[in-house]
Parts: sequence; C-alpha cells; structure tokens
Amino acid sequence: MEYKLITADHFERVIEHLRRNFFADEPLNRAAGLCQHGGGNAELEHHSLTTLQDQLSIMAVDGRKDSNNYGQIAGVILNGVLRPGDTEQALEKLQESTDANYKKIFELLYGHSMQVDLFARYNVEQIFDVRILSVDARYRGQGIAKELVRRAEQVARKSGFQLLKADATGIFSQKILCSQGFQPFSEQLYAKYTNDAGEIILPVEAPHIKLQLLTKQLNKDTQ
Ligand code: ACO
Repeated sequence: MEYKLITADHFERVIEHLRRNFFADEPLNRAAGLCQHGGGNAELEHHSLTTLQDQLSIMAVDGRKDSNNYGQIAGVILNGVLRPGDTEQALEKLQESTDANYKKIFELLYGHSMQVDLFARYNVEQIFDVRILSVDARYRGQGIAKELVRRAEQVARKSGFQLLKADATGIFSQKILCSQGFQPFSEQLYAKYTNDAGEIILPVEAPHIKLQLLTKQLNKDTQ
C-alpha cells in the first residue's frame, strides 16, 4: 500500500471513494439514512472538500502493479484545521441547511464539541481535526485505518500542531484511535440523545453505542 498526501488533482477521486464507502457506511450516516452506497450528498461533499483544502489529508493507494486494482484509493483520512469559534460558526451555518438528516448528524457532533473548550483546556490556538476515516470495504481488516491514523499524526507533527482531536462515531474507529494513543475525552451515548418527546434522534445500530471525542497531545519536545 502506498500512502500519499492528497493534493487537489485527487479531490474528485476521493469524493468518489467516499460516495462508495463512507457516506453510506459510517454509523451516524446509516442511522440517519443519509445516502445509499454510491450516492452523493451535497452537504457532506462540501464538508469533505473544505477539509481537503487544508492539505493535511492522506490516502492509501493500492500499489500492487500486478493487480486489477492498481492505483485504486483503498482508504483516506481527512484532516482539517480547527480554530477557536469555528464550531460555533459551523453550527450557526448548519441552521440554513435544508437536509434534515445531515442537520441531525452535525447538530450532535457540533453540539457535543461545544460542551468543552479544547483550546482553553489544552492551551492551543489550533487543533488538528481528524474528520473522516474511511477504508474501502474491499480493503478493510488489513490495518489500513490504523496506518492512516499513524501517518496523520506525522503530518500533524510536521505542521507544528500540539493537539489532535477526533469525533469517533463507531466502536472500530474508537478502538483504532485508542490504539494510536488517543484518549477518550468525552462521550455521548446514542440511546440518551433524545428529543423533547424522549425519542432517540439517531438510532445507531449495534455494536456502535456512543459518540466519543478523543484527543492526543503531541509533546513539543518531540516535534
Ligand atoms: N469488525 C471487527 N473489528 C474491526 C472491524 C470490524 N468491522 N473494523 C476494524 N476492526 C478492528 C480490527 O480488527 C483491528 O483491531 P486489531 O488491531 O485489534 O486487530 C482494528 O479495528 C484496526 O482495523 P483496521 O484494519 O486498521 O481498520 P480498517 O482498515 O478495516 O478500517 C474503518 C476501519 C475505517 C472503521 C472502516 O471499517 C470504515 O471505513 N468504516 C466505515 C466508515 C466509518 O465508520 N469510519 C469511522 C467513522 S469516525 C471518523 O471518521 C473520525
């Protein structure tokens, strides 16, 4: 497998990869019925492209020259820069969205993030935000996601970040991030995320039971 920084010439292929894999498979997207395999979602694509423009994202590409899948994107990790006030602004902008399912998902994510001021808590001015971790279904279970997280940390270090953060929505991404030294900071059980009538807003399927916000601090001395 070859791991490369994602540059603008690959953005379209990355979005196609996400349409085939992440958009329909990620636990919250599934719970909200955001889209079908292969189908797009304008808001999620915009969110992904905005993140790609920060030039901190990595892709795993099949490098087996003898394979029909040579050159295929096997997985991606999309990382962006988070600055003070960004989440508040994003939540405000979300109110204009006409996509009720997308809104449900991001109200949970942004609302949860806003319960804590990570900038003050860790005394940092910017955070390396791990937003999307996705591996093509044909390549899962081979350690690609783990390697993408490991390499994302290298990019964060090189770019001078002192803090990484991720909102992990499923049990596997939570396990993967913990294996790479991330620590759970806060969590929200899906069964307890309810509306005024007491109904669960996002009925996420087992084995995923909670949203976890995880952080990893990088030691200045090892930059
Ligand atoms: N069932 C059981 N164990 C699993 C599974 C699974 N479906 N997926 C991963 N794991 C375990 C592996 O066994 C491995 O554990 P080990 O090291 O103890 O053996 C560990 O998780 C690492 O697995 P990888 O092979 O590195 O993970 P993979 O490359 O298969 O990708 C991912 C995992 C990214 C979650 C993939 O299943 C996927 O793309 N899912 C859909 C999208 C999604 O849910 N993304 C995460 C959302 S959160 C976010 O984006 C920040």
